[in-house]
Amino acid sequence: MSTPHISADPGAFAETYLDDVEGVTAVRNMLGFTGSYRGTPLSVMGTGMGIPSASIYATELVREYGVKNLIRVGTCGAVREDVHVRDVLIATGASTDSGVNRRRFGGRDFSAVADFGLARKAVEAAERLEIPVRLGSVFSSDLFYGPEDDLLSSLQRMGILAVEMEAAGLYGIAAEEGVAALAICTVSDHIVTHEETTSDERQTAFTQMMEIALESAIA
Ligand code: HPA
Repeated sequence: MSTPHISADPGAFAETYLDDVEGVTAVRNMLGFTGSYRGTPLSVMGTGMGIPSASIYATELVREYGVKNLIRVGTCGAVREDVHVRDVLIATGASTDSGVNRRRFGGRDFSAVADFGLARKAVEAAERLEIPVRLGSVFSSDLFYGPEDDLLSSLQRMGILAVEMEAAGLYGIAAEEGVAALAICTVSDHIVTHEETTSDERQTAFTQMMEIALESAIA
């Protein structure tokens, strides 16, 4: 079975990529695993969908567990015709309709950007792995099923590559907490052309994104 929000089994993810994997948390079934990747200890954890959910986990990981590098891997919907399903995007910046960063920033517009060091490591890892990646900005939407007719044209006009639902929140938290964050997204669907991926294709494309993330995390 497959729905827009349920695809891979997180347990399978950890076992595929990490050695000596141990489940470390399962509160509300939000699974977290620690293992090692090429000898370096590393953790993976679900965040749920959307900025509010991801912000809870990111904040607790940073404040209570001392996490210094947050790499989001996930899907996004392309909004430009020159971005295609299965493309891997490195989100150097994230615009949003969420109010979270304004609240963090006294009502002002915060520039939600990726950590340059992590972004550079991701680009270098992609080059080593010979995986083409595209760098650019994404839009972190509060609504998956949104009502706005004019959103798409605004995104296109401002050069945004794709829509997802977490990066801007993650970047705001990272800035405030003094840690590094990066979002790497695979295009799972196309909002303009309605091109879709099969679950097999998704698996390959998602594998590439995870390899880039893992290689960046240990670089
Ligand atoms: N909107 C928001 N997030 C997404 C989408 C989308 O169309 N596709 C994948 N993640």
